[in-house]
This record gives sequence, structure tokens and C-alpha cells, in this order.
Amino acid sequence: MNSLEIREKYIKFFESKGHKQIPSAPVVPENDPSVLFNTAGMQPLVPYLMGQPHPYGSRLCDYQKCMRTNDLDEVGDGTHHTFFEMLGNWSLGDYFKKESVTWSFELLTKEFNIPVERLAVTVFKGNDIVPADDETANVWRSLGIPDSRIRYLGEDDNWWPNMELTGPCGPDTEIFYFRSDDEIPQEYDPEDDRWVEIWNNVFMQYNHNEDGTFTELPKKNVDTGMGLERITSVLEGVNDNYKSSIWKDVIEKIEEITNLSYSENEKAMRIIADHIRSAVFISADPSGIKPSNTDQGYILRRLIRRAIRYAKKLNIDIDSNWEEEVALMIINKYKNFYPELEENRKVVLDVLKDEKNKFNRTLEHGLKEFEKITSKIVDGKMDKDNAFRLYDTFGFPIELTVELAKEMNIEVDEKGFEEKFKAHQEISRAGAKEKFKGGLASTGEIETKYHTATHLLNAALKVIVSPDCHQKGSNITAERMRFDFSCDHKLTDEEKQKVEELVNKWIDEGITVTKEEMPKEDAIKSGAECMFIEKYPDIVTVYKIGDVSAELCGGPHVSNTSELSHIKIKKEEACSAGIRRIKAVFVD
Ligand code: SER
Repeated sequence: MNSLEIREKYIKFFESKGHKQIPSAPVVPENDPSVLFNTAGMQPLVPYLMGQPHPYGSRLCDYQKCMRTNDLDEVGDGTHHTFFEMLGNWSLGDYFKKESVTWSFELLTKEFNIPVERLAVTVFKGNDIVPADDETANVWRSLGIPDSRIRYLGEDDNWWPNMELTGPCGPDTEIFYFRSDDEIPQEYDPEDDRWVEIWNNVFMQYNHNEDGTFTELPKKNVDTGMGLERITSVLEGVNDNYKSSIWKDVIEKIEEITNLSYSENEKAMRIIADHIRSAVFISADPSGIKPSNTDQGYILRRLIRRAIRYAKKLNIDIDSNWEEEVALMIINKYKNFYPELEENRKVVLDVLKDEKNKFNRTLEHGLKEFEKITSKIVDGKMDKDNAFRLYDTFGFPIELTVELAKEMNIEVDEKGFEEKFKAHQEISRAGAKEKFKGGLASTGEIETKYHTATHLLNAALKVIVSPDCHQKGSNITAERMRFDFSCDHKLTDEEKQKVEELVNKWIDEGITVTKEEMPKEDAIKSGAECMFIEKYPDIVTVYKIGDVSAELCGGPHVSNTSELSHIKIKKEEACSAGIRRIKAVFVD
């Protein structure tokens, strides 16, 4: 049974049990800044698990885009992935343990034809909050799972997500499949990794509150999750996920590009396949994430760069369209399930190509430097200064340095690096703040005007170039303004001209500039632009220029844009990776 049939059977089965299929949420959470990516199918459903009625009703099912990146550097074996799909079904205060377990059993044994002899389950053995889950164990028994294949385990195994995280949670029952040609042992042994977990049914009945207490949720919910990659390889009888129908053609494509065989290059080919797939899904997401040095953008950057490094190991001609070929295959494979892949095809391909070009430039220099540094190492240790230099001057993410060093049995002082990294961030923030606080070297009339003009420039860049353009620094003298901003490309002549025209139009319109004090929280909520949020006091000043711009800022500013002269962009150049610099002057 291939992954397409599995997906379809799964959804049809739960529809036949009264579930409504809901669309996959974006992989970057829409309303949850506490996590970078959706890591489980239930994450977008938290408000409904907490009690809010769901517009589709109380029985839901889906396939959900998920990303887990905490073990990104582990990817390369046959079973770990960064991106994966989770098949899920939910009861929002509707059915509970009996139906959930019975239907899981029915799907696995009747639809997926798994012999009962290959199954084992675990249930919760109880703690201070809830007693042992005999109810679930009894349902399993009634379905024909013998006692020797039912194991009661504690919080570490049968409580989801864990006892530390806050939010909806509860005891679960996990289903295991014996994946081996060996004789199946009578007794289930959690230490025996021939038993692989295929499904997790969580009885989400509690909320773990911020104060550490557990309270009953208004409704007893069920949340189940089954990884599509895992169940596909189980049902197709392969031990290596990359040999399943999900990956086979992608791996064959990489074999074709490299002229090498998978069996001799497993790790590198898996990394290329996995990371390009993840990069495709992240960059096609409606959130519009681009490679950068923070948050999701940094993960995206690491994924693409790691894929490129392994492509180099396989002697792929990096300047060829190899990444495009792999990405297009992935887009075609998934576009019927995730139309955003096709809709954003150009964006995806551009992200990959741009990042490849950027990385290529830094890598050449960085690798030379890396070799120079390591040739001098005699005690198997790279100190923090060299690790930092590779990061700061050559754009090497620390993970890359560590991984390359590991191949040479060199240990990197990662802790020292982190300290240096933090100190460096503080200095550059403080430096920027100094400039920003006064905003100006001196606050003469002309400097004040330039200061207001930077706000207009900041707003115009967002309209003309990209909403992702954010201020990264500014410096003003009586002669000119300098403005640094995040941007992934050199501005075209047309963009420069349009930015200039828009700023000048706003100047002609004579827009009033207002100043308002408000709590920092409210300012951020209102969408006001700010550079370093953590550096601001609780009450901040927001300068607004009509509807055109709102920024947290110390001022001073002119009171109407008509006081400004027209601006002219004199220069637009790279400032550092992902940051551009504009120099502009008043002309008349
Ligand atoms: N939330 C549970 C998991 O991720 C079941 O869906 O395993």
C-alpha cells in the first residue's frame, strides 16, 4: 500500500466514522509565537481542545504539515526527518477511549491488514493525577490483544506531551508494530527496538496550568497522531523510510544527478532529500519565511546550507540546477495535497537559488579559513575565537563548524562560542541603541528632518520592496541619512526609483506627524515598527505619520512631512549578509 492509498484510506475511514476533514494548517504557526513550527497535528487545534467550539464539529481528521528541528543534525539515518506529515483524528468532547481504541484497531487490522500478532500497546500506569488506565487496557483486551502485549508505563512514556510543558495534555496509549523478520516474541519489550511506535492516542483531559497545577478541561478530548512516513514504510515492508514510496523517486533523482548509488551514499542522499523537502515546504508556507539569521529563517538557511554541503560531498555541480530538479519533483509530488506548493513554485525556487548563491560565496572562503585553522590544531580542540571568527567573518553557522570539525575528530568550544556570540549581540544592540536613542549625532533642524525621512523610507521599502524589510540601523549627519534594512536582494533601479517617488509623494501630501505614549505591549500589538523590542521601557513613544508609518522611537521629528525636502537615493549597497544600506540626501 503506497502513501497515497494510506492517506486516502485513513481520511475515508474516519469520515465513515462521522469525522470531518479539516485542511492542514500552515507549518509556521499563525497565532503562536512560542514555537517556531507546528510540531504535532494537535497544535493548531489547541483553542478547540481547551473548549472553544470548532466550526467543523466535534469529530475531526486531517493530515498536517509538521516540522521538528531539535534533532536536525541527527537527520541522515533511515528514520529521522525534519518535515513530516501527521495523520490525525480528534474528538472534541465527543467519543472517548472505547471508540478511539476500537477504531484505531479496526483501521490497522482491517483496512491496513496488519496481523494482530504484530501489534503491542502501552497504557498509562497512573500517577498522583490520574489512576492506572485499566479502562483502555480492557478495551485492548476485548479486541484480542493479549496481556503479554499490553504494558503499563509511566509518565515518561505514556503522558503527552510531557509533565513539564503547559497546555492541554493527558495519558496516552501507544501502538507498536513488530518490524522484523525475526520470530515475534510473545512478550512486548519496550527496550527492544524491533517494536516501532506507529500511533499515539492521547486522552486529552487535563490542562497543565502555568502555576504547575493540573485541572480538568471542560471536555474530555481525544488527540491521535500517526506519522505518515513511518506507517508507510511499515506497510510497505521496508526498514529505511527512504526506500518507501514517499522517497524512492526523490532518491532515484539524486542518484541520477550524481551518477552514484544510494546504497553507498545513504547519509548524504537522505540529507539532501529531507532538507530540500523541508525547505520547499517552509518557503511555500503563507508566512513567507526567507533564509535569515533568526528564528524560522535561520532553520531554513541551515537546511539549505546543509543540503548544499552534502551535495558537494557527492560532487554535484553546485552551479547546475540540481536543487531545482529535486524541489520540482517534491512540488509535483505534493501539490494535490498542498496547493500552496504549486502557487508559490517561483518563490520556492528563488529562495533555494538565492541562498545557494550566497552560501557558495561564503563557503569557498570559509572552507579555506577552516582548513587554515584546523591545520594548526594539535590538541583536537578548536577555541571559541576561531569558531566565532568563522561565524562572524565567514558566515559559518556554528552547527556547520561543529559538524565539519567532528569529521576531523576536532572538538569545538561551543559553550565559549555561545558566550562570545551573546556578548557580541549585546554590544551591537547597545551600539545601535546609542545611535537610535538620540537617533542623531546632534539634533539640529536638518538632522531632525532626515530622521523623519528615515521613517518614510522605512515605510516605502515595505510597500515597494517587501513587507519583510525592517530597519537594522541608521546614522544621520547634517549632510545625509544612512539607513540599513533587511532585504534579500540588491534593489533594482526601478525599485529605487519607486521608493524615492513614494517618499516624495508623502512629503508632497503634507502628512501630520503625531506622537503618542503607550504601553510597549499595546504598541507592538498595534503593529508599530521597532528595532529592538527588548531594549525599550514599558511605556514607549510611538511616532505616527498619518496612516503611512508607526514606529517606536525617541524622536525628535518634524510635525508635518511638508517641512521636508524631496529625497534622492545616492547609493544602495550591501551592508552585511541579508542587510542593505541606503544613503540618501535632500535635494531641493
Ligand atoms: N499529539 C500527539 C503526538 O504528537 C498525538 O497526536 O504524538
